[in-house]
Amino acid sequence: MQNDFNESQTRTNLMRAFAGECQSRQRYYQAALIAQQQKLVGIERMFRFTAEQEERHAMVFWKELKGSAGQNVDISAGYPADVFENILQLLDASAAEEEKEHSIVYPDFARIAADEGYPDIESSFSMIADIEKSHRKRFEYYGRLLREDRLFRSSDTEQTWLCLNCGHIHKGSEPPQECPLCSVAQGFFIRECEAAFTSCEIIEQ
Ligand SMILES: [Fe+2]
Ligand SMILES: [Fe+2]
Repeated sequence: MQNDFNESQTRTNLMRAFAGECQSRQRYYQAALIAQQQKLVGIERMFRFTAEQEERHAMVFWKELKGSAGQNVDISAGYPADVFENILQLLDASAAEEEKEHSIVYPDFARIAADEGYPDIESSFSMIADIEKSHRKRFEYYGRLLREDRLFRSSDTEQTWLCLNCGHIHKGSEPPQECPLCSVAQGFFIRECEAAFTSCEIIEQ
């Protein structure tokens, strides 16, 4: 049985989620700019890619609020002031925030939406909770590479590295200091397996 939407807790949770996603998007966009200043292009692109997904999550929640169009929705919530210049701190703080969304906040909101009779909204919260887990893993992955000084170093001498500027592939335990084709710095290289679209092979069935 659906409650009156304007009296529901789900309506408040949607606005909290919308505010949270807008802020995540902005935090990651700012983190991308810091990574760019530090010439860590792979990490910059990763933050931008994730920021775009947060923007789409915000849009999902925004559209669910149409039942309150024209009204003011009051919320009370805490949001992280992760104002860091250090990339590792940014990655760690982002991973922690994603874990909170994945394991506490959105499952809670999904359960309340189900209780209040909004299965579609429950499903949106649950699906986005799963995505936030993949974000946490992404941030942890790069945090670990940085912490262990492996961002541009591998124990595999056959490791393939991709230049994000021109697409040149280099094989070896480290990417070159400068791309031999387009001359950009080492910071443009990522492991080939980290790039979207680079492992495309025809699937026969
Ligand atoms: Fe999100
Ligand atoms: Fe996220």
